[in-house]
Amino acid sequence: MAIKVNEESREFHLFNGKVSYIFRVLEKSSQLEHLYYGKKIRHRKSFRHLIEREVRPSCNLFEGDHTSSLEHIKQEYPSFGTTDYRYPAHMITDKIGSRITDFQFESYKILEGKPLLENLPAIYTEAGSEADTLEITLVDSVLNSKLILSYTIFSTCSVISRNARFINAGDEAFYLNQAMSASIDFPDDNYELVHLHGAWARENHVEIRRLSKGIQSIQSARGASSHAHNPFLALKRPDTTEHSGEVYGFSLVYSGNFLGQAEVDTYGVTRVTLGINPFQFKWRLNPGESFQTPECVMVYSGDGLNGMSQTYHQLYRSRLVRGEWRDQPRPILINNWEATYFSFNEEKVLTIAKAAKDLGIELFVLDDGWFAERHDDTSSLGDWFPNKEKLPQGIKGLSEKIEALGMKFGLWFEPEMVCKDTKLFAEHPDWIISTPGRKASHGRNQFILDFSREEVVDHIFSLMDAVLSESKISYIKWDMNRYITEAYSTALDPDRQGEVCHRYILGVYRLYEQLINKYPHILFESCAGGGARFDPGMLYYAPQAWASDNTDAIERLKIQYGTSMVYPLNSIGSHVSAVPNHQVGRTTPIESRANVAFFGTFGYELDVTKINDEEKVKVNQQTAFFKEKRELIRNGDFYRLLSPFESNEVSWMVVSKDKTEAMIGYYKVLAKPNDKYYRLKLTGLDPDKLYFLEGTGSTHYGDELMNVGIVLAEDFTDRASEYWQREKPGDFSSKLFILKEAAQEKKEEPHEELHGI
Ligand code: DGJ
Repeated sequence: MAIKVNEESREFHLFNGKVSYIFRVLEKSSQLEHLYYGKKIRHRKSFRHLIEREVRPSCNLFEGDHTSSLEHIKQEYPSFGTTDYRYPAHMITDKIGSRITDFQFESYKILEGKPLLENLPAIYTEAGSEADTLEITLVDSVLNSKLILSYTIFSTCSVISRNARFINAGDEAFYLNQAMSASIDFPDDNYELVHLHGAWARENHVEIRRLSKGIQSIQSARGASSHAHNPFLALKRPDTTEHSGEVYGFSLVYSGNFLGQAEVDTYGVTRVTLGINPFQFKWRLNPGESFQTPECVMVYSGDGLNGMSQTYHQLYRSRLVRGEWRDQPRPILINNWEATYFSFNEEKVLTIAKAAKDLGIELFVLDDGWFAERHDDTSSLGDWFPNKEKLPQGIKGLSEKIEALGMKFGLWFEPEMVCKDTKLFAEHPDWIISTPGRKASHGRNQFILDFSREEVVDHIFSLMDAVLSESKISYIKWDMNRYITEAYSTALDPDRQGEVCHRYILGVYRLYEQLINKYPHILFESCAGGGARFDPGMLYYAPQAWASDNTDAIERLKIQYGTSMVYPLNSIGSHVSAVPNHQVGRTTPIESRANVAFFGTFGYELDVTKINDEEKVKVNQQTAFFKEKRELIRNGDFYRLLSPFESNEVSWMVVSKDKTEAMIGYYKVLAKPNDKYYRLKLTGLDPDKLYFLEGTGSTHYGDELMNVGIVLAEDFTDRASEYWQREKPGDFSSKLFILKEAAQEKKEEPHEELHGI
């Protein structure tokens, strides 16, 4: 990997074996011009020949120079109003009310590794050799302010991350109205936009649409990254598939309001912008202060969407997730939510835990309802004191009893919320986010604590700490079940109300950091009414996230398929639940429920005391199986094979790094009579390795499995009469195939080479 600087022509080339990124300083205006981003190209002394200029009727920066219109120059971090009319990367209002900026190149520096971002989650390096960072300092002399653009290139993967920092070096405050994390001008518009959209119980559905002229965007203004759109978008070529072709991924390491968009101008230039949502954002930057944007992680793939996803998976599981749990197998858990909802007591909990332990489950998680008078969702959030009627010995006593069973214990919190019937609210009615003189809307009967205030965060920490410090807690599920409304903080000046949502999320990060520092052994799972905050920002603190409240295996095919676009399998919370399913009423076989949940963190969310003996045997087999395979699932390369958005058959697989082992999930949503022939073509295997296909006793070379596929027909040769007696799989059936490298018993005959025709 290298960052080469051509001092004379002031060009910067970041590259490794996979990707190149090139930009330069404009001679006259000293702004930054983007030249190239894509597959690695060889370094040259100069890339001046990549400059594109046409004379077009436009406004120009310099008199007499008809090629100095910023509208026709591809840029790195554009501003609005000085000849460029496209959507800018930043906007500032200064003391005279002007919104014009002119940040000009001042200097650069190259650092080994990657600096951390202050108070924000970010990918990191563990050794200087893993990445290099280029920091470009630009100055606006009228504002007397600096803008530092950071670019980190990793040595072995196709990752470039970007962020921006504004420093007010003057003696007057100004307002940041917009501070995006990255902006890139692509020279053409022959792309499709890929993004993940959804709602509660149907998160992360993949949406692909052709780019068209104008702005197409995704966003959240809800105070959380949200169910509606994930903070991720990609541009792919129309002929790019899961396995081949170009893709550019953009993923924002942030959990609050965001905007991601592609603007196609009339000349076919596509500007991609990603960062904090400028809508409702306004930040006062006082003299001497700086503002740090979140980080945008960009992945280039020449190997289709799978190539992009695998790069994100590898990066996020090893250089975004932190702490003790990063490299450890995750426990199989059982969560009591769908088993009991609010109606439980210690005896009931212990009965479930005991039965779960006997089935090979390792961690019991007590969900909502353990505190104060919480018997339904109308009360008690904020009073984090155990309900002694349900739990006579409190969380302390219960956690000790669970540990005595030989299981670990986990607990649910919703730290950001308060209900009006609580001690917390009685003591601090002004701690909720609401606009003075206006009605405060509620969501799920609850109100949001003003986490933009330090004292609120500190108080919640002390309440949680009281429970954690006296109990044996190995896991926390941190839930968040409503979006922000009437965003206003009474602790902030009127001209700072545009800061509330960002300050709020910084407060959430601060509480996480405090808890992680004091309790490094606790495994955190983030949750927000399912997957409303399944984002890279959260993964920095909580290595896994509850992907959706929808636990139906068939719905999960779509949710997990979409989630896997960016997020690694060992971050995707996935459980086997009861049937008929509580969200959609569907009854699916217990095998299929597990075969879907295996491709995630794996756990159960049902009353295991109510399942029959046959199901118990199956659950026992499933937990034993997962324990055997969890390293493969955690570290392997994941490939999506057949999309639930396109067909009745769905498939995906995970292959070990050394390609000696693979696990393939194949799902058929509806049964079909007298159906076509099916072959499941695999990928990612070693073509020369011989694989043993467990269950069939047959062996196959990798090349055969990838080119012919697994032949799924049952082969009734010589036993046609059995056909009518066969057991039909029914709807929602699934199969799991396990491949293991087999000893090459005898050399196959070498193929005869064909010469000529
Ligand atoms: C929403 C979560 O997504 C569920 O799993 C559960 O924890 C409930 N909240 C509890 O209120």
